[in-house]
Amino acid sequence: MAITFQSPIKHNFNPSSSSSPISYAPSLYLIKTRLSFGFNLSSVSSKTQTHITIPEPEPVFTSVKSFAPATVANLGPGFDFLGCAVDGIGDFITLQVDPDVKPGQVSISGISGDGNRLSKDPLSNCAGIAALSVMKMLNIQSIGLSMILEKGLPLGSGLGSSAASAAAAAVAVNELFGRKLEVSDLVLAGLESETKVSGYHADNIAPSIMGGFVLIRSYDPLELIPLKFPYEKDLFFVLVNPKFEAPTKKMRAALPLEVTMSHHIWNCSQAGALVAAILTGDSRGLGKALSSDKIVEPRRGPLIPGMEGVKKAALKAGAFGCTISGAGPTLVAVTDEEEKGREIGERMVEAFMKEGKLKALAMVKKLDRVGARLVSSNPR
Ligand code: HSE
Repeated sequence: MAITFQSPIKHNFNPSSSSSPISYAPSLYLIKTRLSFGFNLSSVSSKTQTHITIPEPEPVFTSVKSFAPATVANLGPGFDFLGCAVDGIGDFITLQVDPDVKPGQVSISGISGDGNRLSKDPLSNCAGIAALSVMKMLNIQSIGLSMILEKGLPLGSGLGSSAASAAAAAVAVNELFGRKLEVSDLVLAGLESETKVSGYHADNIAPSIMGGFVLIRSYDPLELIPLKFPYEKDLFFVLVNPKFEAPTKKMRAALPLEVTMSHHIWNCSQAGALVAAILTGDSRGLGKALSSDKIVEPRRGPLIPGMEGVKKAALKAGAFGCTISGAGPTLVAVTDEEEKGREIGERMVEAFMKEGKLKALAMVKKLDRVGARLVSSNPR
């Protein structure tokens, strides 16, 4: 069926493209989308001018299962423009063609691992919002879908939980219909979801989809720069998650509306040093820069019981640096040895109890270089 498609996005749409590659790790160094939008994505679509006629794609699978990793956003001075994906923890989506669901719609048939806290209304659920956004981009009008969300990440933890659900859902829909969209389109779908549930920032959703470190150079148009940490260098993230919830919206409200010129200069120089350290595989330099934010961390730190003492304990135990992961309350420390990472984690857990009266769990993780991916599929 041929339909008229109105999109704000430049689709490099290729109806004959195959679904062979597995990951969304970008092949281009710089990914750009020609997109014009403000803070409300839906209001932008109504102002769109590009008219593209595309055929509605057929599903190539009856069902797919996808995974998207956790992320560490900000990395200190990279507030809202830098983040990375971490290996081995994340969310799963199982998505299937469902004749019982109204064409063009998605229903959420099950959610696990959320302690019954997430809504099954697709319009109020990050996975549902991202799935619908991708369906809209693809102009899916004849097929209904249902999905199951398996949360592997705690909610409100600072590990990009909402972004992982959105990334897994966006990738699942794209895969089910033969991988027609660009990585940047999927990031936009996830950003629409993040804007509704967390805030207007892509520093979780972009690395969760793309893997590795990603710098968001601009939002309008969206420009994403993947930063390759050299394969041969070692880098371990010590993630310490206390039993304490920090809603992102509240943590964003704590931020200053204005910054002094001296803090601006300081944070820009640290962010530059951070990018240089990533590209050269300098984990010590990365830790030093990540630890040096003078704008965001000083406002959020006091809202996380014991944060300052835990950071001190991490540095004393030999971490190269330590800061808040995303909006917190998880703290992230950096080292170049797994065993040392475990020791640092233990000291941080002890400090959370001593200084903040909070129980905490420590994990030592590597970089996830792949990003959101298909884990299984059933052909039609
Ligand atoms: N950049 C966002 C923030 C990330 O710090 O508010 C939230 O995980």
